[in-house]
Amino acid sequence: MLVKTFSSAVYGIEATTISVEVNVSTGTKYYIVGLPDNAIKESLQRIESAILSIGCRMPRQKIVVNLAPADIRKEGSAYDLTIAIGILAASSQISDQKLADYIILGELSLDGSVQPVKGVLPIAIQAKQDGFKGIILPHINAAEAAVVNGIDAFGIEHLQQVVDFFNEKTPLIHTERDSAVDASTDFVTTELDFADVKGQQNIKRALEIAAAGGHNIILIGPPGAGKTMLAKRLPSILPALTFEESLETTKIHSVSGHLSQKESLMTTRPFLAPHHTISDIALVGGGSSPQPGEISLAHNGVLFLDELPEFKRSVLEVMRQPLESRSITISRARFTVDYPASFMLVAAMNPCPCGYYNHPDKECLCGSLAVQRYLSKISGPLLDRIDLHIEVTPVAFDELTDHGESEKSETIRQRVMQARTIQEQRFISEKLIHCNAQMSTQYVQKLCLLDESGKQLLKNAMERLNLSARAYDRILKVARTIADMDEESHILNRHLAEAIQFRNLDRETWIG
Ligand SMILES: Nc1ncnc2c1ncn2[C@@H]1O[C@H](COP(=O)(O)OP(=O)(O)O)[C@@H](O)[C@H]1O
Ligand SMILES: [Mg+2]
Ligand SMILES: [Zn+2]
Repeated sequence: MLVKTFSSAVYGIEATTISVEVNVSTGTKYYIVGLPDNAIKESLQRIESAILSIGCRMPRQKIVVNLAPADIRKEGSAYDLTIAIGILAASSQISDQKLADYIILGELSLDGSVQPVKGVLPIAIQAKQDGFKGIILPHINAAEAAVVNGIDAFGIEHLQQVVDFFNEKTPLIHTERDSAVDASTDFVTTELDFADVKGQQNIKRALEIAAAGGHNIILIGPPGAGKTMLAKRLPSILPALTFEESLETTKIHSVSGHLSQKESLMTTRPFLAPHHTISDIALVGGGSSPQPGEISLAHNGVLFLDELPEFKRSVLEVMRQPLESRSITISRARFTVDYPASFMLVAAMNPCPCGYYNHPDKECLCGSLAVQRYLSKISGPLLDRIDLHIEVTPVAFDELTDHGESEKSETIRQRVMQARTIQEQRFISEKLIHCNAQMSTQYVQKLCLLDESGKQLLKNAMERLNLSARAYDRILKVARTIADMDEESHILNRHLAEAIQFRNLDRETWIG
């Protein structure tokens, strides 16, 4: 007898419904066709053992399993449950009446228990689009699938439950959608607050500008100056994710299997801080069966690279293209996947190996050659993509012991959101541009007009400070953001003057 069950496959961050046809007829062998990988070919052992464990029988006949469409590669062990149910239906041990209404997926253990799978969120979205009534899946993944409205997620722990369900013995109960998903959370909860940081008004201002325009930023200063402390507080002043953004970010985390069980939909912006020993693949994504890297997990959030010059040069190189295109394409012989990677880059570094170059009180012991070599690791194209360069000097002792109140993150965040609202309106017709940092050169030319005195100011600064040509667009974009924070439609000289200060690393005294 021939039956058809349904599963789903994830490519990049999108899913495709896969039909699993099982035919049991006279003969003896087991065939599985339709581009299965090794894990699927080996599934027979798990399936047989699981079927026997619930007291059903494995048909001693010819079994043909066909995964369709045939032209796409199927991988992993999530088809175990689908195939098992297909075999049971094709050998008349369960009813095939309702099979067409459900996507079924899960890895089987030998005792029939069901193990979690990856990528359930895109699968649920696709299943709804394709008109399925429900998804039967490992209970650990159920909350994640239940995020999608209009399709029921049935979490199960054991093959027996699925058998009893199709045989109308015991109904399955669908997982309720987490109510927190609907409560519009326009409030960011992080424990790290800017109120903890004493002094550093100018650095806080720079981070506020970065947050307001989505600008990449680098903090340079001696050890203990507070760079790490400041950078980690950036998420507390970023606007909350929109529903679309959180769906997109959650999909990436769902595909990579990084979603914590409690969290069905990510509501706060991701903050990823990979260690400097990270590999190229772990950072940008890839591998023989591709996985998103840290830059994609940071999509719509922040990627923090602390101690930037410690990262391998090759790692910093591979980041250049995605920084520009805001996505990463991974090509393999037979297929290509795209992962979104639109993130704010926040970097921190010492100015030299010992850390005290240009320090007011301490002496740098590095020698100019060592300093040059250290800085050259991050020079050029990477720096090109960082809008704001800030020098951080340690706060004085009496400021550190000051008990006065510092401004809370929530207050700063309100101002950031105001500036973002202006930008959302400005780019309302653009799908991929949400904030000033994402402007193309054409937009810069159109939206960052200077009057004569502004042009003169910028020209003088470029000459006097020895700023490189690449600083030009960066300064204009940042000036646009500062003007937005000021609710000014035109860039005024005071906005421009503030933006010019943020190009320390472009000066030729820093990098030759
Ligand atoms: N402005 C500040 N206000 C409060 N504490 C500070 C400040 N600057 C530094 N600190 C303290 O010094 C510690 C070291 O700072 P850290 O961020 O690790 O410095 P860096 O990353 O620049 O080496 C912080 O954990 C914090 O306790
Ligand atoms: Mg640090
Ligand atoms: Zn030094």
